[in-house]
Amino acid sequence: MKKIMFHSLFVVFMVSMLVACGSEGEDTTSASNDSEDKEILKMATSADFPPFESYDTEGNFEGFDIELAHAIANELGYDLEIEDMNFDGLIGALQAGRVDMVMAGMSATEERSKNVDFSKEYHRSGEMLISKPDAEVNSLEDLEGKIVGVQLGTIQEEGAETLSEEYGFEVKKVDDSSVLVQELNSNRIDVAYMDKTVAVGYMDSQGFVGFDDPTTSSPGMGIAFPKGSELVEEVNAILEELEASGKIDELKDQWLSEYE
Ligand code: ARG
Repeated sequence: MKKIMFHSLFVVFMVSMLVACGSEGEDTTSASNDSEDKEILKMATSADFPPFESYDTEGNFEGFDIELAHAIANELGYDLEIEDMNFDGLIGALQAGRVDMVMAGMSATEERSKNVDFSKEYHRSGEMLISKPDAEVNSLEDLEGKIVGVQLGTIQEEGAETLSEEYGFEVKKVDDSSVLVQELNSNRIDVAYMDKTVAVGYMDSQGFVGFDDPTTSSPGMGIAFPKGSELVEEVNAILEELEASGKIDELKDQWLSEYE
């Protein structure tokens, strides 16, 4: 009898040891799945462009592009890693293969398509010229003799170069889009030229006024990849899924609706 009892106790002990080992084993695998085993999707952005990409008060990335990128990475089973750089350096980073994709409110222009591949468009924004109310700049004609600020490497940089000849203004180029706001506030530029969605946000928060650029018909924003990247098709499929499920509309409501 004693022998049987000892035997069954031993079995119970062994079983509980196995269960303990088993669950411990499982925990480790699931933990490493989350952190180490998942492949990393490296994205670059220029986090100076609210509501698409900027920093929250704790220093984390936030914005429409950031959340859409997380949703895409999640669907594809990657961990997303985000690198912040000057807008002007984004295409070069893709070409050098330093990052897998770029989301930065980047307009999918034909010119850029010579060097990178774009996903389907995920948003369309016009362009605006904004200034302090006392500058009284309400049309392209009013730009004569003024200083117009643009971000380096943007379609507005190119647009401003062309317009400046006809309308007689000076173009000032800065690396960082948020610097344009400081430059306006401290009167170092008279006008800032930028994407409408972003401009409307600054008009609200800084009390600037502005008018739509009547000359442009810029293409919508796309996600950029190195030429020939297999991710283009995969991401396009995910974008379609996210559109069909209403996730993209949900993100647009959350981040963009008040700026349009
Ligand atoms: N849409 C414009 C362009 O593609 C400006 C984008 C600027 N983006 C940024 N994250 N600063 O040229």
